[in-house]
Amino acid sequence: MERIPRIIGHRGSPRAAPENTLASFRRAAADGVKCVEFDSALTADRRAVIFHDDELDRTSDGAGLLAEATFETVVTLDAGNWFGPAFAGEIIPTLEEALELLGALGLQFNMELKTDQGREAELARIALTIAMDCWPDARPAPLVTSFSQTAVAAAKDIAPKWPRGLLFDRLPEDWTGLAKTLELKSLNGSHQHLTREQVMAVRGAGYAVMAYTVNEPARAELLFDWGVDAIFTDIPGEMVKIFGAS
Ligand code: G3P
Ligand code: MG
Repeated sequence: MERIPRIIGHRGSPRAAPENTLASFRRAAADGVKCVEFDSALTADRRAVIFHDDELDRTSDGAGLLAEATFETVVTLDAGNWFGPAFAGEIIPTLEEALELLGALGLQFNMELKTDQGREAELARIALTIAMDCWPDARPAPLVTSFSQTAVAAAKDIAPKWPRGLLFDRLPEDWTGLAKTLELKSLNGSHQHLTREQVMAVRGAGYAVMAYTVNEPARAELLFDWGVDAIFTDIPGEMVKIFGAS
């Protein structure tokens, strides 16, 4: 993996445009961001789409569980109007649509595989098969992450050459074992619980540390001082202005 840029747009640029939409990725690129994170999940009929929540309600005009909605329904939903009328008509992108745009914009990406009651390995298989097909080898390899160890293990089998990160709220006690077994590149934790000692230990063991979701420049500066390699932020444009994109 090329070194991951230190500023990663969390779901694109979600304070400037509706999260996890093509508009959000375009905005991140326009603001000089080099890498975006997005969430991937499956519809009921197992199409991989870009979406964060279990339920459709907050970030679309749909209702109920994404996992119980067919793609035929999901494709009709508006994923922008909730954010503002200027974004009415934004779609919930398919993984293919998202990757095509990211390629055209020259953005690197981190694909998070959402946890989804028992379908984690299936999501990894479907999403990574599509991504490996759409994403040319010549481009920087994406980072594949999940809170689900099952999904990360599946990613190791399906896309062994693509770097992997394990997401966590608090650093797991057995992080060294997990990092070895899953052959991780990075450990990606909530910045609220990370400590300087943890960052030093993880980096000292040869893994990258990434922190989410960091929206205060002063906090970002402290984390970078500790050695954190990259932050996920809702204000990537502002962070790029302060810290540079890469
Ligand atoms: O990957 C960092 C972050 O996206 C993890 O949490 O809930 O925003 O997907 P969440
Ligand atoms: Mg995420």
